[in-house]
Parts: sequence; structure tokens; C-alpha cells
Amino acid sequence: MSQDLLYERLAERMRRQIQRGVLRAGERLPSLRRLGRDQRISLATAVEAYQQLEREGLIEARPRSGYYVRAASAPAPRAGRMRHLARAPMPVRNPALLGVLDVQARHDLVPLHSASPAMSLLPNAALAGSVTRALRRDPDTALNYAPPQGLRPLRELIAQRYGQCGVDLDPDEIVITAGAMEAISLTLRSLTRPGDIVILETPTYHGLLQAVAAHGLRVLEIPNRPGIGIDPAHARELLERHAVRAALLIPNFSNPLGSLTSEAAKRELVAVCAAHGTIVIEDDLYGELAYSGERPSPMRRYDDGEHVVVCGSYSKMLSPGLRVGWMTGARRTAELLRTKSFSTVATAALPQMALVDYLARHDMERGLRRLRRALADNSLAYRQAVLEHWPDGTCVAEPAGGLTLWVELPERVEGQALFEAALAAGIGILPGHLFSNRGDYRHHVRLSCGYPLNDRIDAAMRSLGDIAKRLARSR
Ligand SMILES: Cc1ncc(COP(=O)(O)O)c(C=O)c1O
Repeated sequence: MSQDLLYERLAERMRRQIQRGVLRAGERLPSLRRLGRDQRISLATAVEAYQQLEREGLIEARPRSGYYVRAASAPAPRAGRMRHLARAPMPVRNPALLGVLDVQARHDLVPLHSASPAMSLLPNAALAGSVTRALRRDPDTALNYAPPQGLRPLRELIAQRYGQCGVDLDPDEIVITAGAMEAISLTLRSLTRPGDIVILETPTYHGLLQAVAAHGLRVLEIPNRPGIGIDPAHARELLERHAVRAALLIPNFSNPLGSLTSEAAKRELVAVCAAHGTIVIEDDLYGELAYSGERPSPMRRYDDGEHVVVCGSYSKMLSPGLRVGWMTGARRTAELLRTKSFSTVATAALPQMALVDYLARHDMERGLRRLRRALADNSLAYRQAVLEHWPDGTCVAEPAGGLTLWVELPERVEGQALFEAALAAGIGILPGHLFSNRGDYRHHVRLSCGYPLNDRIDAAMRSLGDIAKRLARSR
């Protein structure tokens, strides 16, 4: 075979690997010598292949370090397209929020709507074994009321895990809940009164908006920016002007942006909230799902135990259906525990026992490594698919972790119109205006990237692109 064909073939193979996410953004490629040796090609051919991919913007040479896969070269969505941030606190006024419940419950749609990992990425068989074992071994405990605070062995495991990222927790300050959503709701119920002001980031998870609406709270917004996260300066400005009871934030891999707020910004947010007597309710659901690098710290790390309540769950790491989450209240634990026991008495014992059994037998870190890598691959492959098939002018955020992709459509395309047409075609996505207090982000949609980009999802991505192009033409 001629040298020309050889280098083209090699470049084509690597191009496909990058597009499918087999080779991931930021990944270091084999050195030229190693590539030559492994592929049995000359050094010159290896150089030509890399130079070709470099010209295409798929890889980059870093001085004295080698070649690396570049992040997909999509422009990121702009910070907002939100109207000016409201200066006065407002009740949640977004009627569309109620409609989301109908869509979320649908299992017949191509699953780009619900932020969950594919079942194939979770250890379901091992968890089923743990459920059975827990029930057989001790049915009297499994089928009785659990203590309202939750099983101590599970609380110890949760405290140990936080210890690994620099957060020193006492198992006695952890209260087990039915998922993170219950933890957030109970925290709001315990620590706020109707009419109180809370700060939310924008865009934010629609479930948080629903919880805030249900408690009759008023909202001030601070921006969360793609690739940057939450800016403490905005929080400071609002806190200086208003008596804010709580800040309900998702600093680690937010839903929908997947953005990561820096450690310095988290530290500052905690300090500024503490200085104004504002409680931080930290939704740390995605903290374990970094696409690369270390698990980021929860904001609780920068707190003295007085100001930050951290809420989390196993929903995105092990099982959404077991419904096991937690809140850690430090000096507020007694209040949280009272609310929990008035509300549901206790979280079911069997799922807690099953998790203790599972965590004793399996290395959760190993499973998480596989999950993180799969999600990073999915996210990259989905971004590429959007860039390839959706109309010109579409922008995709580059998440640093988590389960969601935030897509900004060209001006002519409404997120709601794309959502409705997608639904009619059996594809689930969510329109961007669900992620705002006042229905902003009318030209955005959120995709979940929990499922590998198989043929069904690939076809759905192409259909979404076709629909979006049609909508763009029809305006
Ligand atoms: C940011 C965020 N918080 C909370 C929840 C609810 O989590 P759980 O299933 O543990 O109640 C979700 C679910 O998608 C979420 O995305």
C-alpha cells in the first residue's frame, strides 16, 4: 500500500474514534514513535496522519508533551439569553413546570429527557443480589420501621466517602432520605418560611424550582455560566441588598449546564453567605461524576458546620429506584430529623440494607470510574452528533461532568417547538424554559447523555437535527 493511503487510513480511523468518543477530549495520543511501532508504519506516515488531524482541528500538539485530542470545537452557548436578572425577589412563575412531570414519567420515548444513566451502566445484577440477601438475612429488620435518621452503617459509609474529598462529617449528622429531592424539600421545609427569599442559580434544575414554588418562597437569581460556574460576586451583590434566607445551589456539574464552580468560588460563596447569615443548601448530586480529574469538593468543605446543608443520593451513581439519599445538617440535624420523621417517619430499611451489603462487597470507586468514563464518552459523542446534524448556529456547552448537555438553538428555533415535534416523533428532550424561574432560555433545550450513542439514539439525534432545520426554515 502506498504511504499516502496508509496515512489517510490511519487518520480516518482516529477521526472516527474521536467522533465516537473512543478517544476522549484531553486524552494524550501515543507518541509518534510508539504509533509507528504499533501500526508498523514509518515515522513519516505517523507524522502525516497527526498533521492531517491537527489541520482538521481534532488534535493538537503541545510543546514537549505530545499530541492530545482537542475538545469538540463547538462554540459554547452564550451565558444566558436570559432577560436581565430580576432585581426584586419573585415567586416562581413558570406554568410550564407542571407539564414536565408527564414527560419525565414516560419510558416509551427515546430517553434524552431524563437525567439518568442507562441501566446498562449501573450494577443492577449485583444490587438485586444485595436486595435478596438483605431480605433473607434479616427480614424482621428489613420489613420493620427503620430509625428515622436511617441505618447507622450506611451513614458511616456516606461519612467515609465524604472524608475522601476533604469533608469531615460525623455519621450522626447525616439523615437518610428518599433521594436527594426529598432531602432538598425537607431542608427547605425545616429552614425556611413561606415568603422567604432564596437565591437560585440560572439556569437551574426544574425540580429545585418546583420545590421552591411548593414552599411559597421568593427567588433571586444568580447566573451559572457554561464552563465557568457560579460567580460569587453576583451572590455578594444580592446578599448586600436583600435578607436572603437560603441559597440553593448546584456547584458541582450543575443540571443542566454540567459546569463546575471553582474551589475558590465555592469557598467565597460559603464565606459571603455565612457573613450574611444565609444558609447554603448544596445539591451535590453530581459531585461524583467528573469526566476527568479528582472529585471536586462539596461546598461543605469550606464551612464550619453552621451554614451549609449538603444533599446527595445514590440515584445517579448506583440506583435511582432504590430512592436512597441524605442531608447532612451539622448543628441543624435535630431540626432536619424532626421534619423527616413528621413527614415520612423513616426511609425504607430494605434499600438501605441492600446498599450496605453492596458497598461491603464491591469497590464503588471501580464502578464509578467506569460510569464516569462512559458518561464522558457519551457526552462527547452527543456533542459531535449535534454539531454534525443540527442547524448551523447551534451551540453546545462542554460539560465537565454529570449527565446533561445544554444546547442553544439558532435564534429562529424555539425550544418548545422542538420539544413538541420531538415528542410527536417519540423522542424525549426538555425545553430550556423549564430551567428558569421566569421561563427564559426559549431557544435552548436540555439533552440527557446517560445512554451510549447507539443506533436508536444516533437516529434520534439526526431526526432532532432535521426537525430543528425545518423549524428554522419555517420562521
Ligand atoms: C440537580 C438535581 N437535584 C436533585 C435531583 C433528584 O435526585 P434524586 O433522584 O436523588 O431524588 C435531580 C434528578 O435528576 C437533579 O438533577
